[in-house]
Amino acid sequence: MNKRILVIGSMNMDMTVKLRALPKVGETVLAQEILYNLGGKGANQACAAARLGGNVKMLGCVGDDDFGKKQLAALKQLGVDVSEIRIVTGVSTGTAVVCVEESGSNCIMVEQGANFKCDETYMREVGETILESDFLLVQMEIPQESLFWAIRYAHAEGKCVVLNPAPAPETMPDDIYANIDYLIPNEIELLKLTGQELKAMNGQMGWEEIGKGAREILSQGVRTVIVTLGENGCGVFQKGWEEYYNGVAVDTVDTTGAGDCFAGAFVAGLAQGMTEAEAVQFALYASALSVTRQGAQASLPEKWEVERELQELKRMQA
Ligand code: RIB
Repeated sequence: MNKRILVIGSMNMDMTVKLRALPKVGETVLAQEILYNLGGKGANQACAAARLGGNVKMLGCVGDDDFGKKQLAALKQLGVDVSEIRIVTGVSTGTAVVCVEESGSNCIMVEQGANFKCDETYMREVGETILESDFLLVQMEIPQESLFWAIRYAHAEGKCVVLNPAPAPETMPDDIYANIDYLIPNEIELLKLTGQELKAMNGQMGWEEIGKGAREILSQGVRTVIVTLGENGCGVFQKGWEEYYNGVAVDTVDTTGAGDCFAGAFVAGLAQGMTEAEAVQFALYASALSVTRQGAQASLPEKWEVERELQELKRMQA
């Protein structure tokens, strides 16, 4: 079984600035290195799903520049269907400045560029594509009106809708959650979506706050909330049922795109017939591998690598 995955989202060129530590407001620091990597949450998730065996099509917009050409070529090479991606003339491809400190943690600033042209008119033109897919995987780096249009349309047509709410808005339209099968925020996104105060130590949410936030979103109609917790694994929440999955210990080099890898891997797993629990494990191991390497798309693992790690886990558990 290999169901069809449609990813609608952003494509960026990442300018990765490597630093010993992220600067404070008003501080100037010297960077260790600057690298150009292919990125964008949409493209990263499409690449992750394709590398992990998924049957993927991508929709979105790039500029008519070299960055756009590189992005399309990379997606195509992985077997992603790029035939309906719009190339917008006179606009640059989205750009992200990604600051990565020695611990591997990052912060990201995005200039939307052509991603902004992924508007409702384009969505309505390519709407048929949603009908041809089984899964819709989306994030929040394209205009919200087209994103919400696609979510509502896909849900009404019985598709499985997966939203990685990144970057998270402060509010969502009232009806949106009821159209979502899987919502995959990280802790910061969950916090923003539910307006909670960050009470726990080290800027991390405690399990209690995570549960509270996830349950609040479930009560608004999402079927399953999966909160990714970086090296601490993830929590899966459904009405009346919650499960915590341990993280996978690795040497972290760069966390850029780890959340994208998780979302792409999870959907690729489901599309290839895995149970939810199997797809979560698959996604945890895929994203753990991704943080051991530099860059967003460049760090995404192949299916055989994730399978090798999962086999090793099974061997240790036997
Ligand atoms: O999630 C990581 C991605 O966020 C980067 O590749 C950057 O382009 C931004 O979209």
